[in-house]
Amino acid sequence: MKIKNICCIGAGYVGGPTMAVIAQKCPDIKVTVVDLNEARIAAWNDKDVSNIPIYEPGLNEMVGNVRGKNLFFSTEVDKAIEEADLIFISVNTPTKTYGTGKGMAADLKHIELCARQIAKVAKNNKIIVEKSTLPVRTAEALKSILDNTGNGVQFQILSNPEFLAEGTAVQDLLNPDRVLIGGESSPEGQKAIDSLVGVYANWVPKDRILTTNVWSSELSKLVANAFLAQRVSSINAISELCEKTEANVNEVAKAIGMDSRIGSKFLKASVGFGGSCFQKDILNLVYISKAFGLNEVADYWEQVIIMNDHQKRRFSKNIVQTLYNTVSGKKITFLGWAFKKDTNDTRESAAIYVADDLINEQANIALYDPKVALKQVLSDLDYLDTRKPSENEKHITSYNNAYDACKNSHAIAVLTEWDEFNDYDWQKIYDSMLKPAFVFDGRNLLDGDKLKAIGFVYQSIGC
Ligand code: NAD
Ligand code: UDX
Repeated sequence: MKIKNICCIGAGYVGGPTMAVIAQKCPDIKVTVVDLNEARIAAWNDKDVSNIPIYEPGLNEMVGNVRGKNLFFSTEVDKAIEEADLIFISVNTPTKTYGTGKGMAADLKHIELCARQIAKVAKNNKIIVEKSTLPVRTAEALKSILDNTGNGVQFQILSNPEFLAEGTAVQDLLNPDRVLIGGESSPEGQKAIDSLVGVYANWVPKDRILTTNVWSSELSKLVANAFLAQRVSSINAISELCEKTEANVNEVAKAIGMDSRIGSKFLKASVGFGGSCFQKDILNLVYISKAFGLNEVADYWEQVIIMNDHQKRRFSKNIVQTLYNTVSGKKITFLGWAFKKDTNDTRESAAIYVADDLINEQANIALYDPKVALKQVLSDLDYLDTRKPSENEKHITSYNNAYDACKNSHAIAVLTEWDEFNDYDWQKIYDSMLKPAFVFDGRNLLDGDKLKAIGFVYQSIGC
């Protein structure tokens, strides 16, 4: 079947950019992105395209090109479901915060709600595509809900996980390493797979479109994130050993990365990985392994998270120790709050945990991030529930430029690798700070030799 009408449930970091690219590359397909969040949909529809709710390089322009032509954002979920031949489910699947599996399992309540809504509304046969990252065998539960509607509609369920990384989403979507589609081996399953392959084939070479069974596809997404995060934790573990031995983690990463069997990507030591995916998906993998009684498998992957927590904590501990064992009442400047550069997303950012530790030590944090507003920062801290919101508010001030944020401060901590931090007049910043002036570079971003020559006490990760 040739797809003419697509609905995507969930207008978030995945649904928005992915559907914009499909709309751009498939002018004959009408794409409607729906969400229950009215404010988010209103922002996607904002006349001024620079106000769309997600910052991604190149996304404004792309949305501007196709919105109102064949890309639509709407809160009319039922209408979009009814009209669609193919429905992507791209809702959030966070870690459960209650009940069985609390703190580990994926919360599938939004997914189940989507399935029930589709079952209720659908009047003709549809292909349902899992775009969200889901525990392996979720399609079984979806099928059970969809097949028991009693209204005779046939559903085919596909798994098509998304591998885009934030900050490079548009490029990743335009030029993916691979597109993965899992489906049933029955003739109907095969037909559904072919339909979705037909959508991607508009711009993705066929040899990069991989088809598998549903379970392999679901599991591959969790495994891909676990392997990527494991590389970051591996190099971060080595960074601590480097600090004790005068080895330099950047040199070690380069030396091992030139081995083609290892490869050079994802070997950047840092204050710890963040983002909405790595921690959640590994915890989910650990939970699933435990559920099958595979305790060694679970422990192996859990170590990636344990190492990451340690890396964040040891960064804040080192700041306190270096500042003569007290940061009470001291102004500490944070450059960056987002979990990586080129995104306004702060979910699970290392900055949140470092700030929480330093506020426990009564520090006053001065923040500058080019894309993150104070409201978001406070909501991230309040979510941890370590102290009252009014206390968080007392300890964080946000600035709209880095020079003001650094003025009269005791130390700067670089939490995000925004390119612009390298272009600053560091002499001017040094002159405005209290002495000795410290820089703790959690991203190994800045030119340490230059900063030391100016007079800074400069510390980076693993050097
Ligand atoms: P998000 O929170 O940015 O967006 C999800 C959206 O779904 C929200 O706007 C929410 O209001 C909406 N929603 C929830 N339930 C709904 C319902 N019943 N009806 C309509 N709308 C509903 O999440 P995201 O970052 O886009 O992630 C979505 C999924 O994709 C997750 O499973 C995630 O693991 C996966 N994923 C994310 C990334 C990433 O980089 N963020 C990459 C790959 C995969
Ligand atoms: C990740 C996966 O890369 C992507 O394929 C998946 O679809 C969603 O999850 P994302 O979280 O958006 O993407 O960004 P990513 O580039 O993977 O970075 C995750 C975290 O790891 C960031 O905090 C980043 O700063 C950190 N990181 C990454 C390092 O500390 N060192 C590295 O070498 C690479």
